[in-house]
Amino acid sequence: MSDVFENVMDLAKRRGFIWPTSECYGAVAGFIDYGPLGAMMKRRIENIWRHFYVVQEGYYEIECPTIAQEAVFIASGHVKGFSDKMCQCPHCKEYLRADHVADGGGVSGAATMDNATLAAAIAGCKCPACDEVLGCVDVYNFNLMFSTTIGPGSQRVGYLRPETAQGMFVDFSRLLRFYRDKLPFGAVQIGKSYRNEISPRQGMIRLREFTQAEAEIFVHPLEKNHHPAFARYANYRMPLLTYTHQHKCEPAVEMTMREAVDANVIANEYVAYYVALTHELLVTVGIRPDRLRFRQHLPDERAHYATDCWDAEVYSERFGWVETVGIADRTDYDLNAHAAQSKTSMSVFIQYDTPKKVQRRRIIPNMGVLGKQYRQKAKAIFTALETATPTAEGADVTVDGETIHIPADLFEVRDEVVDVRGEEIVPHVIEPSYGIDRMCYAVLEQAYAEDTADGEKRVVLRLTPKVAPVQVAVFPLMARDGLDTLSGEITSNLQKQGILAEYDDSGAIGRRYRRQDEIGTPFAVTVDYETKETGTVTLRDRDSMKQVRLNTGDLQQIIPALIEGSMHFAAL
Ligand code: GAP
Repeated sequence: MSDVFENVMDLAKRRGFIWPTSECYGAVAGFIDYGPLGAMMKRRIENIWRHFYVVQEGYYEIECPTIAQEAVFIASGHVKGFSDKMCQCPHCKEYLRADHVADGGGVSGAATMDNATLAAAIAGCKCPACDEVLGCVDVYNFNLMFSTTIGPGSQRVGYLRPETAQGMFVDFSRLLRFYRDKLPFGAVQIGKSYRNEISPRQGMIRLREFTQAEAEIFVHPLEKNHHPAFARYANYRMPLLTYTHQHKCEPAVEMTMREAVDANVIANEYVAYYVALTHELLVTVGIRPDRLRFRQHLPDERAHYATDCWDAEVYSERFGWVETVGIADRTDYDLNAHAAQSKTSMSVFIQYDTPKKVQRRRIIPNMGVLGKQYRQKAKAIFTALETATPTAEGADVTVDGETIHIPADLFEVRDEVVDVRGEEIVPHVIEPSYGIDRMCYAVLEQAYAEDTADGEKRVVLRLTPKVAPVQVAVFPLMARDGLDTLSGEITSNLQKQGILAEYDDSGAIGRRYRRQDEIGTPFAVTVDYETKETGTVTLRDRDSMKQVRLNTGDLQQIIPALIEGSMHFAAL
């Protein structure tokens, strides 16, 4: 019996949502094409994401190249550590994710095993490709980045970015200036990321080229518990699966964001705010709340840079709980790493409300004597003395690895009180990171339904009107007698309002409804002979299949309101 994944992918291929890429040459695993309807639906989901992050949050979108030079990924840690554990099946020669083989074979704890232990642990597991017992295999680390060289004949190594995030970190200084040197601020980016996944077999869930929508929010490290708009989500209630619950095999508990922060379940207000915003956003694009949970990473599962991390997981009938969004507190890890690698400052000057009086000890060298005595080393000694700890006898300084004792009569120690206007701090980063393709799959899977209409099986995509590619269909009952002209006028008036209205006059009206139901078009307007007499049309709701008669002139207010969700069909 086919499962919902097969039904969804079959519909997606047939109706132009998702296609295998370069199919005529034999599709390559891990790459997909979005067909005409899929590309439109994806764009609508991205635009809802933009509405939340750019319009509501005020974080401007930037666009960085998908290829970056090696130094960027040395600093980020991807060159050294962005790898999965791989083995090769000795029977069918297929390369496999060793931890996935372990999971499939009922071996737990693979994520924390070293390669030799994992190899021993999976020896008794079956190869998922050929079903033979693996036996003795080597497990090794496979770096997931696609590498390239930049420029013809060049030795300059580059990588396709494995996340959009790094572009926003390396642009930090310019972003800081753009936001007039004030924290908090954020930058967002929607674009392609690339990971050379080992044998991806999960359709749109695990791709080698995929779209991420990421926000990097730069905050003062001491203000992570004071999100300026926290009140918006303070009473937002949702189920949270904390790591304590996971350890005790207990179910998720419902909490408000205020309660979660106060009980230290979520690390701070910023993380809690974006957990709640993500919940609202996913429900807005059509994810059912009963198939959505927020799971905290276990300490040994967290990325090396994160102090707290929550995954929004969406339940799939085929794949179980699928990580779709990650919300992490990345601390100052990335900015410090890029500051060290690029030797540029990635800090912010925070001015105090009133300058602070600070007692400071200054060491003033006697340059005349120091210069004569130490000649070319004098300048380095002068600099080293600034941070030395002098005693009554003098101070020891280290220059070029050599410790030099400077007698006390060669410098003067002056204690003074100075006004300090502020301090340099390295911001912390809160990062909500969305996988758009996983959202698209989840939306399609959850929208897919079969029921009956007029005694026949009906396949329907119950997409929320906000993400449906075609928003309204317009049908003349007959393609003649002026009904076609009237339908054409209605279509073009709706199009002028920015609504994607599709005119269709081919085939019986029932078949036309079925075609639109299958691609998720939420509303259909039918122009019939009564339209000519009374100026009214019927408006049909995809889900209830009910129809109401309306004045043609009202469509231009009603249709946008139905799509936006400010009006419901039942109220008509
Ligand atoms: N900047 C943080 C980051 O990239 P991640 O958890 O590796 O974190 C974020 O990725 C999201 O990107 C995931 O939650 C998932 O939705 C999506 N994603 C990651 N790898 C993917 C893949 N191979 N195919 C499709 N989506 C993927």
